[in-house]
Amino acid sequence: MASTTILVTGASSGIGAALAKVYATRATNLVLWGRDAERLAQTARVCRNLGSAVQTLQFDLRNIGEIAGHIRNFDAEWPIDIAILNAGLGGAASVDHAAECAERSSDVATVNFTASVVGANAVAECMATRGRGHIVLMGSVADTVPLPMAPTYSGSKAGLKMFAESLAIRLEHHGIRVTIVSPGFVDTAMSRQVHAPKPFMISAEDAAAIVKRRLEKRGRRIVLPWPYGILTIAFRWLPGPFRRTVLRAMPRG
Ligand SMILES: NC(=O)c1ccc[n+]([C@@H]2O[C@H](COP(=O)([O-])OP(=O)(O)OC[C@H]3O[C@@H](n4cnc5c(N)ncnc54)[C@H](OP(=O)(O)O)[C@@H]3O)[C@@H](O)[C@H]2O)c1
Repeated sequence: MASTTILVTGASSGIGAALAKVYATRATNLVLWGRDAERLAQTARVCRNLGSAVQTLQFDLRNIGEIAGHIRNFDAEWPIDIAILNAGLGGAASVDHAAECAERSSDVATVNFTASVVGANAVAECMATRGRGHIVLMGSVADTVPLPMAPTYSGSKAGLKMFAESLAIRLEHHGIRVTIVSPGFVDTAMSRQVHAPKPFMISAEDAAAIVKRRLEKRGRRIVLPWPYGILTIAFRWLPGPFRRTVLRAMPRG
């Protein structure tokens, strides 16, 4: 049986680790990227035990200039069929400051937006030579709801959503699909830093299973869990003044 090669960034934790495990079978080669060596090795170990061939890369995505080269090198050895650009950085501002920490906002924008965009463009060129592939970008419901507690996070995810929609149209003639995944709360290290109600929160394992199932159905935008699909549509339809009233009631940090 031919193997499917899947790249997952942010595979050392949370949703990325759960996605790697849910795709780990004898029919898949996994290319797993992460920053924390020990947690990345742990995900790789579980995936190998489930039958996958696994290569890992311990890499800080803020080294933007190296991303395309790493993608091309892995693709030359194991042509990538599905690229899940999942790595991300949360960023809640402190209530004690007017805005966000400038240095932190640079990291959030770089990891969430720039690294994913560079990775997607690099892997798209490789996939285009084969006339097939699937690029999956990890957004958030914050791509639709501008969170006052995390403006850079919301902006980076909204930018990614727009990028995904543009890229999807551009690449359809090359046989490449592009999907944006927009989760609500998922129980991971990132969401555990949020000290506010987390309605409809699901586990990373449930999130990964939903994403895999919906990707197989060729979804272009996957909002999960399902109540957030309804909430984001309702939010978009709210008149501007009501929308701002809802946003003002949200926590600032
Ligand atoms: N959890 C939620 O409620 C939620 C909701 C909406 C969207 N999301 C999105 O889902 C994705 C995964 O987040 P998560 O919830 O699974 O959070 P997580 O458990 O904190 O995992 C984040 C992953 O991104 C990696 N990462 C962060 N900064 C990096 C950097 N500079 N270089 C390389 N890798 C880096 C982390 O690597 P290390 O751990 O090795 O540093 C980790 O593997 C993110 O894009 C996030 O925005 C999450």
